[in-house]
Amino acid sequence: MKTKSPIETHYSLPCPCSMVLLADFHNSDPEPVLDSLRKSKPEIITIAGDFIRGDLPKGKGLKIKENMPAVELLRGCAALAPTFVSLGNHEYMLSDADLKVVQSTGVTLLDNSWAAHRGMIIGGQSSAYCHMYRDYRKQHKGEGLYPDIAIYDLKKKQIPRLDWLDAFEQQEGFRLILCHHPEYYPLYLRERKLDLIFSGHCHGGQWRYYSLLHRETRGVYAPGQGFFPKLTSGVHDGKLVISRGLSNTVRIPRINNPTEIVYISNN
Ligand SMILES: [Fe+2]
Repeated sequence: MKTKSPIETHYSLPCPCSMVLLADFHNSDPEPVLDSLRKSKPEIITIAGDFIRGDLPKGKGLKIKENMPAVELLRGCAALAPTFVSLGNHEYMLSDADLKVVQSTGVTLLDNSWAAHRGMIIGGQSSAYCHMYRDYRKQHKGEGLYPDIAIYDLKKKQIPRLDWLDAFEQQEGFRLILCHHPEYYPLYLRERKLDLIFSGHCHGGQWRYYSLLHRETRGVYAPGQGFFPKLTSGVHDGKLVISRGLSNTVRIPRINNPTEIVYISNN
């Protein structure tokens, strides 16, 4: 059965080329997404994290190999346009070997790093979960490639690695950063010299309602922000763009909150 297609949202913002923001694919069906991309032909494709499902591995092989629809999505995107990918919380356990598979699809992986592309500097802020787990892996050397507990049980304060950002914002050109977690924006990114920030993670707040107070639809809950979060969708401060995501990972249905592909252009 074909998965229901995401809605297509278009934002007009100052930017040097047409772009698409994909987020929270979570190893779902790549075809509806690729169909949309084939029709809309964005000049660059960005994937702001959570392309896989980060539950504990079922087998002894590479985690990424348990997420082949996600690999198909990456490969399909890279065949259509230059594609830039950052890491979300669900990618926390990916090993160097997993990340090599990601890169073998033809995408540019941005793991607290950046790449130059046609006058743009495109950065990827990895989720704090990634380096938290890398530290955990170092401390538990020899105890297997993947964890026996989920990162969510480590109960540590989540502070992302930010040391690369100073050099990033000194680069000449249009600075776009992919940052899976929108809650990082007020904490770490708002005051930096960035032209656009692309996020996801919140799945639109799962249930959306019309707020008479704010005169807009808002989400009910978002991880990292709690109940009645501010940053779950849309454009904020003219530069933070948040996708409502491409899938559902929890048993609670999305209500008044269809999955979404976000197109950005200066038209
Ligand atoms: Fe996420």
